Amino acid sequence: MKAIIAPSVLSADFANLQRDVQMLNESEADWIHVDIMDGMFVPNLSFGLPVTEAIARHASKPLDVHLMIEKPDRYIEAFRAAGASIISVHQEACVHLHRVIQQIKDTGCQAGVALNPSTPVTVLEDIIADIDLVCLMSVNPGFGGQKFIENTYKKVRQLKEIITDSGSKALIEIDGGVNAQNAPLLRQAGADVLVAGNFVFKSQDPIRTIHELKNV
Ligand code: DX5
Ligand code: ZN
Repeated sequence: MKAIIAPSVLSADFANLQRDVQMLNESEADWIHVDIMDGMFVPNLSFGLPVTEAIARHASKPLDVHLMIEKPDRYIEAFRAAGASIISVHQEACVHLHRVIQQIKDTGCQAGVALNPSTPVTVLEDIIADIDLVCLMSVNPGFGGQKFIENTYKKVRQLKEIITDSGSKALIEIDGGVNAQNAPLLRQAGADVLVAGNFVFKSQDPIRTIHELKNV
């Protein structure tokens, strides 16, 4: 099976968002990755509900919403209403992760959990059967265009083992610094979903770059 490709609109041209979303519609992208930052959980601000809603209005593909915010339970229903199909929350931001996962599922969205580079994948052992997606951060969340952290390969392999042993159907998503060099290695290690921001949007021909990632 081919990888699921989820370009991150964080690296799109915000003044031409409709054009860039249209480009993704016409490409081999499977999902559209939407990065929400609150300036608290991460040191940066991105955008919020109205922009997500505007993206959803033009997108013909599912929105994969990555909440890099504190207490994300406050905004689950709102992001569902704004058009999210998949919602990921950070394990580090949820004291009651199990409850938040159920809250996401109750809206009808697929539920994802994101892990910072310093968080071991073993924290998910007791929740893995309940989740649809694990988003492994391969950079420290907060900014596009950062360098891929090599330790991620080991985490993908460990997580794959946890998923297989538990019989969970969770997909493994990699987020941060993904490019044509590390994509094949990530796939070999067990990654199912590749997020790419800069590598897609700063390339000469984004449609071709997405094709390249899709066929690694
Ligand atoms: C980082 C975001 C990523 C980011 C990826 O905080 O969660 O989704 O947009 O961008 P690149 O591919 O440029 O690292
Ligand atoms: Zn992201």
